[in-house]
Amino acid sequence: MKKTTTLLLGVAVAAIPAFASQKMVKQCKDLGITEIKNCASCHTSKSPKEMSEKDLNEIGKWLLEQKAAKNAKECDVAWLKEYFANKK
Ligand code: HEC
Repeated sequence: MKKTTTLLLGVAVAAIPAFASQKMVKQCKDLGITEIKNCASCHTSKSPKEMSEKDLNEIGKWLLEQKAAKNAKECDVAWLKEYFANKK
């Protein structure tokens, strides 16, 4: 019974589109990417409600380009280490 509940929860969370992106801020912190501080580090909208894959700034666009270039299923913030390494 407990297993089924966990499974259903997992599916429900994955179905929320903004979830993957909002996780990025935490992932950056975990990876020590200090350049990313909040949603506005990658998005240009002021309100999180207006954020989408269409309001990305230079960093966000780069991440999206990498997704296409790498043929990946989703963006991985770990790629940003490369981005900031080239900036220095
Ligand atoms: C490290 C950069 C980065 C940060 C930080 C970030 N986003 Fe995003 N966000 C993206 C990228 C890149 C996409 C496009 C994702 C894709 O299409 O694979 C995206 C897409 C989105 C979308 C469209 C749905 C989706 O998830 O694909 C929403 C909504 C969104 N972001 C909201 C937010 C909010 C709210 C925050 C802060 C809690 C946030 N983002 C933080 C880079 C970021």
